[in-house]
Amino acid sequence: MNPNFLTIWFLICLSLQCVTTLASDPDPVQDYCIPNPKFGSIKTISHLLTLPCKNSSEATTDDFIFSGMKLIGNFSDTGLALIPVNPTVFPGLNTLGMSFVRADLKVGGINPPHFHPRATEIAYVVQGSVYSGFVDSTNRVFARIIEQGEAMVYPRGLVHFQMNVGKKPATIFGSFNSQSPGLQKIPSAVFGSGIKEELLEKAFGLSPKQIGKMRRRFDPERSN
Ligand SMILES: *[C@@H]1O[C@H](CO)[C@@H](O)[C@H](O)[C@H]1NC(C)=O
Ligand SMILES: *[C@@H]1O[C@H](CO)[C@@H](O)[C@H](O)[C@H]1NC(C)=O
Repeated sequence: MNPNFLTIWFLICLSLQCVTTLASDPDPVQDYCIPNPKFGSIKTISHLLTLPCKNSSEATTDDFIFSGMKLIGNFSDTGLALIPVNPTVFPGLNTLGMSFVRADLKVGGINPPHFHPRATEIAYVVQGSVYSGFVDSTNRVFARIIEQGEAMVYPRGLVHFQMNVGKKPATIFGSFNSQSPGLQKIPSAVFGSGIKEELLEKAFGLSPKQIGKMRRRFDPERSN
């Protein structure tokens, strides 16, 4: 490519706003970056992003293999067990712009409405029968039952949910186009975050007693 071509391409790209289509995790500048444990323990993703990489000559096959989701995780009271897999537990993913999750649902179990601010998700049904959907920014809901072998995409930042409507446990494999998709659960963001009760009463038309009930359910610490 000669420089003129590049300039023209760049101008066309700007006018077509290609720049926005590039909005995702930063491009890696090397094949991979296994964080070097010598520089600190891996606790949080933001810390991880600042850790220097191991010398690539010290990388091993096992750095690129994750075995921690063979078993089901611990079930919440909504009948959902999640094993989120990101660089915090699988350092080999660092800088690769992706992460994933294993989700198991008991019969009738739900994954409550939530969204990921930094990633689009593909949910693949490994086994079971799942009512699955999302809501767009005009409040249109796109939902139906998806069966084993089917996949659904939840666009980045949109609220989505799942419920096991089958007669057997369900397992879903979710894949994200960010190593740090973020997770915001609607019920706890609204009722469990410490927003002033008066505002919640006015917003939802609920009585103080009803707000108290929601607080106890989604924010046990603050409601005592
Ligand atoms: C990485 O390891 C190789 C082989 O041991 C060595 O030659 C190289 O200097 C190391 N690079 C750094 C930046 O330490
Ligand atoms: C499940 O809970 C046990 C006991 O609290 C804990 O040791 C284990 O790490 C948890 N498993 C997962 C996948 O979070």
